[in-house]
Amino acid sequence: MTETLLIQIPHTAYPVHIGSLGALNFKHKVLIVSNPKVAGLYLKQILSLLKAPEVYVCIVPDGESYKNMQSIEYILECAFSHRLDRKSTMIALGGGVIGDMVGFASGIYQRGIDFVQIPTTLLAQVDASVGGKTGINNAFGKNLIGLFHQPKAVYIDPAVLDTLPPREFGAGVAEMIKMAVCFDAQFFAFLQKHRLDSIKHLTQAIIKSVAIKARIVNADEKESGIRAALNYGHTFAHVIEHLTHYTHFLHGEAVSIGICMANALACALGLLEEKQAQDIRALLESYNLPTSFAIKDVEAFYEKFFLDKKSMDSKIMFVLPRGIGDVCLREDVPKEIVLKVLSHFKQS
Ligand code: NAD
Ligand code: GLY
Repeated sequence: MTETLLIQIPHTAYPVHIGSLGALNFKHKVLIVSNPKVAGLYLKQILSLLKAPEVYVCIVPDGESYKNMQSIEYILECAFSHRLDRKSTMIALGGGVIGDMVGFASGIYQRGIDFVQIPTTLLAQVDASVGGKTGINNAFGKNLIGLFHQPKAVYIDPAVLDTLPPREFGAGVAEMIKMAVCFDAQFFAFLQKHRLDSIKHLTQAIIKSVAIKARIVNADEKESGIRAALNYGHTFAHVIEHLTHYTHFLHGEAVSIGICMANALACALGLLEEKQAQDIRALLESYNLPTSFAIKDVEAFYEKFFLDKKSMDSKIMFVLPRGIGDVCLREDVPKEIVLKVLSHFKQS
């Protein structure tokens, strides 16, 4: 099964191909950027599919802790030393870390050149590689430096997920469940019915997730409205990741807990039924995703919401499901209600 979806935003459009990787043809120079792990697994295959006048490879260290300016400078140095010009293309071969960095580096190299995404984690396939958010971390927080720079094309091959560790797979499933709860009740029912251990169901679920993301990005590229709903669970997840120093949970795992916290708040506000919250929790847990976190200090947890980019101007933006398949953005939730909900997660 191969499917091509189109991302259509005001100034550009690009295809997202989902299925077995085929020939990759470029008329000008290409720089593939990857990390040692992914390059060890897939670089040979990509090189065999690639046709371009000149092909160069740039390897950066693996991990979120290298998603920083130093790696960007290294990627830019590779580009300069191989004399990439404005017609050249960078290829991101890897998970969301590589994709976000290559998107950023290509966006600033000579005021912006093309890049292509070949995402190799489930999270990157269903979320990070589509939509043009790029960036890096710094001492002030995650993804605070970056730009919107849309890829020229995205090539998603579900077969590369065969080598992905189970926890990384689960982290991607959390993002799929996020999309289903917010935007598509039928997709949620599909995920309840079908395990994603068959390539057929996995591919269908990736196609569905990308179609949802395409719809949202097409409607709101720069996140002035509905795109913020893709941050369902993230307001809480960012605090949990910060409190655990980004080492204990994978991002998707923190999102899974964040989804359950957002659901508890949505239930308290009468937006979601307890039974629906239980169904979402059960689906997350069926992929061994964590759904609880012992909060030591509820007030301190609340204050950390202001670290989030979306809450920096002193109002906290909560993304709350209104049943399954619908979502709302709320900046008016009284602090007392949030504290009461958080206290249910308090360490005893
Ligand atoms: P990651 O890129 O760190 O990949 C996770 C691990 O899996 C790494 O060790 C990587 O080398 C390895 N890996 C990758 N593909 C593999 C494969 N096929 N087989 C075996 N191992 C493989 O993490 P991620 O979860 O893909 O991405 C997280 C990043 O994505 C974060 O930095 C986050 O901020 C970003 N993100 C961006 C967006 C966006 O819209 N731009 C959306 C969500 C997340
Ligand atoms: N992952 C959130 C977004 O792309 O907007």
